[in-house]
Amino acid sequence: MTKNIEDYYAPWVKGIPMYISEHIELAWRKPELHRMMSNENPLPPSEKVLEAMFKYAKMTNRYPDQGLVVRSKIAELNNVDGPQNVMIGNGSSEVYDNIFRMFIQPGDEVIQHTPCFGIYGLRGTLLGAKMVSVPMIYEDHLLKFDHKGLMNAITDKTKIIVIPNPNNPSGNYMDPEHFIPFAETGIPLIVDEAYVEYAGLGKSQVQLTKKYKNVLITRTLSKAYGLAGMRFGYTIGHEDVIKQIAGSLLPWNVGTIPMWAALAAFEDQEGLAERVKFNNDAVDYISESLSVIPGFHVMPSKANYILFDCGETGKTGAEVLAYAETKGIILRGESKKYGSDGWFRVTIGSKEENELFVNTVLEFFGVKK
Ligand SMILES: Cc1ncc(COP(=O)(O)O)c(C=O)c1O
Repeated sequence: MTKNIEDYYAPWVKGIPMYISEHIELAWRKPELHRMMSNENPLPPSEKVLEAMFKYAKMTNRYPDQGLVVRSKIAELNNVDGPQNVMIGNGSSEVYDNIFRMFIQPGDEVIQHTPCFGIYGLRGTLLGAKMVSVPMIYEDHLLKFDHKGLMNAITDKTKIIVIPNPNNPSGNYMDPEHFIPFAETGIPLIVDEAYVEYAGLGKSQVQLTKKYKNVLITRTLSKAYGLAGMRFGYTIGHEDVIKQIAGSLLPWNVGTIPMWAALAAFEDQEGLAERVKFNNDAVDYISESLSVIPGFHVMPSKANYILFDCGETGKTGAEVLAYAETKGIILRGESKKYGSDGWFRVTIGSKEENELFVNTVLEFFGVKK
C-alpha cells in the first residue's frame, strides 16, 4: 500500500513553517514606513563597498573561490593565525546552520538564554534538538545574564551552548570571566557577537578560541557594518574545528559580490567607525530622552536597539506599538515576561526617525519635552 507523503517526512520537521518576518515583508511593501524593528543599520553602504560590488559584479560569470583573501583579512583583524581559523557564510544565520548540522542529532539539547535571537531555536528544532531555554534574571529593572542557571542546565545530552554577547534584545554583555567555566566544560560553546563592533572588538571573546577548541565566535556584517541585505557572516575557531564544520558548506555558498564587498567593508574601518559613532550617539539620545517618563524603564544598550519595559506606567508595549504605527513607525513587540506586558524594542533609525520616535513616545505618555 502506498503511504502518504506525510509519512515520509522526518518526524521532527513535520509542520515546521517557512520563516517569514511579517514586519520586514510589510516594510518592503510600504517603503514610506520607518523600519525601526529589525536591528538593521539605517546608513547605506559606503562608496568603497559599493565600488567593490560594481567591480565584482562584472565577474559574476565566474564561480567564486573559497574566500581565502577575505578570510585572511578577518583573521588579521581578530589576531588569529589565518584563514584556516575562519569559515564564511550567507549571514551568520547560515553559519548557525553549518555549525548545528555538524553537532546535533535528534534528541540532543541546545542551551540558549532567553529572551534571545530566534535562529538558534529555528535551526535546533529543524535538526530535532530539544531547546533548553534559560531565562535571564530580571532585577532592578535590568535583564541580567544568569550564568549559574546556564551552567545548571547542562546535562549529558547538551550538544551546544549558545550565548549572544551582547544579547539581543537586552543589549548587555555577560562578564568576561563567566565565559571560562563554559569553555572548560568542553561542550561546544558559541558566542554570538553579531553586535560586538558597536562596543569594539576589545569586548570580543575571540581569544578563547586559541585556548579552547570547543569555543566558536560568530559575527555578521548585517549590523555595525550595515550590510544586512548582502548576507555575509563568519565564524572563528580552532583550525581543526573550522575544517570539520566547513565540511557542511554548500559549494560556492558565498557569492563573488558579497565576498569582495565584505573585504572592502573590513578594509574601510573609517566607514565602520562612522556608523558606530552615529549609532552610539543615537542610543544615548533615545535612552536619555525617554528616561524622563515616570515608570518607563530603559535597558542600557551597547548595540543598535534598545529594550524598554513600560509596564509600570500602566500601558502595554502593544499599545505603544499601535500608537507608533499611526505615525508610520514599525517597532518590535515582545512577549509578556517577568509579570510585565510593557516590553518593546526599537532599532536605531536615521536622525529624523529617532526624533520622530522619541516625540511619539513622549506624546503617547503625555510627557512634555
Ligand atoms: C544576536 C543575533 N545574531 C545573529 C543575527 C543574524 O544576523 P545575520 O544572519 O543577518 O548575520 C541577528 C540578527 O538580528 C542577531 O540579533
